[in-house]
Amino acid sequence: MMASAPLISIAPPMPFFSGNYAAVNEEGRLRDSHGRAITDLRISVTDRCNYKCVYCRTGEEAISFSELPIEHYLRMIRIFVSLGIEKIRLTGGEPLLRTGLVDMVAELASSRPAYSERSLDIALTTNGHLLEKLAAPLKAAGLNRVTVSMDAVDSDTFSRITRVPRSFDKVLAGIRAARDAGLGPVKVNCVLLRGFNDDQIERFADFSRRENVIVRFIEWMPLEEPSSAPGSRTWAPETVVPMDEIVGRLNAYRPLIDLAPNAASETARRFTFDDGVGEIGIIAPVSRPFCGHCSRVRLTSDGKIRTCLFSQTDYNLHGKLLQGQSDEELAAYIRHVISYKEARHHIGETGFQKPSRSMVHIGG
Ligand code: GTP
Ligand code: 5AD
Repeated sequence: MMASAPLISIAPPMPFFSGNYAAVNEEGRLRDSHGRAITDLRISVTDRCNYKCVYCRTGEEAISFSELPIEHYLRMIRIFVSLGIEKIRLTGGEPLLRTGLVDMVAELASSRPAYSERSLDIALTTNGHLLEKLAAPLKAAGLNRVTVSMDAVDSDTFSRITRVPRSFDKVLAGIRAARDAGLGPVKVNCVLLRGFNDDQIERFADFSRRENVIVRFIEWMPLEEPSSAPGSRTWAPETVVPMDEIVGRLNAYRPLIDLAPNAASETARRFTFDDGVGEIGIIAPVSRPFCGHCSRVRLTSDGKIRTCLFSQTDYNLHGKLLQGQSDEELAAYIRHVISYKEARHHIGETGFQKPSRSMVHIGG
């Protein structure tokens, strides 16, 4: 449900940084207590989703958290950007369900990072169902790139995963529209589940080569909504298709060539094939955790800061905003919260506890 506008007055937005970069002191940059610079903010603008993917959602109407007025997200983002955020990823739920998203992107596009001369990188992770019509307006508003979640290239398997009939054609049209609108390189995320869609690996390799998109295979993490509903999947180590197995399968299809990472904090190991056509990423948070280079912080649809996908706690930044705190006070709160960022996740270890929210209520 959409939250109603608060009754108290909200301070005017903090201006985005527009000063002299040479004068910027790196010391002010947002860092956690492990020395990691926090440069990547993911914001969920709704936790509603029009798909019920079997590895993520129960298939039933689940609880949902509130959504905030877009101006409140923008105010919080501005403060984050003033502290060193360089990349914004809009997520959900399904972000394209959120009214006002295009205008929100346009507002973000006028901002500049405080600690880098590059422009703010604005990306979106979507299931692609509504992307065909929205790709061009989003690009015109200033969105840089999209990642589309697509867990099968076979239409029937796809519908079995999303539990929405005829969804594949819509997503394919969305991917092509995004590519044609210049929202590239378009990344396609595929979460692999053993015995469910792991027969799709080679077909995804073909898809990458044919459609000129980056296909990324993701090891499934224990982030699903708790459920005993028919068709839903509960995480188990045996269901994860590990990176080594994916690499072996792809090499048998056609020899893989390593590509250098784009950034130390990149989630994916990158590959192409021996003829240089196509790009594959493998995101292996289970078999090869990448927490040591984590640069991410998340803001949930109801305005809570999450310092890790697997956090047991979140921090109510929006609550502070509603109390009337100034931008400086909110910035100090963010710094304080970031100092508690976890060193790493503990998937697969004895005593592992599922996080306090599931993926659809956090934002990928
Ligand atoms: P770009 O490199 O900017 O394209 O972003 P990205 O690679 O972070 O892309 P994306 O947001 O699509 O994330 C890809 C996947 O990586 C997510 O769907 C998650 O499965 C996984 N992932 C992202 N962030 C984290 C994280 O902080 N911890 C863990 N364990 N997994 C993550
Ligand atoms: N493990 C790994 N990735 C997941 N995603 C959703 N749930 C999981 C999970 N349990 C991915 C989606 C989407 C992004 C938001 O996160 O496929 O690409």
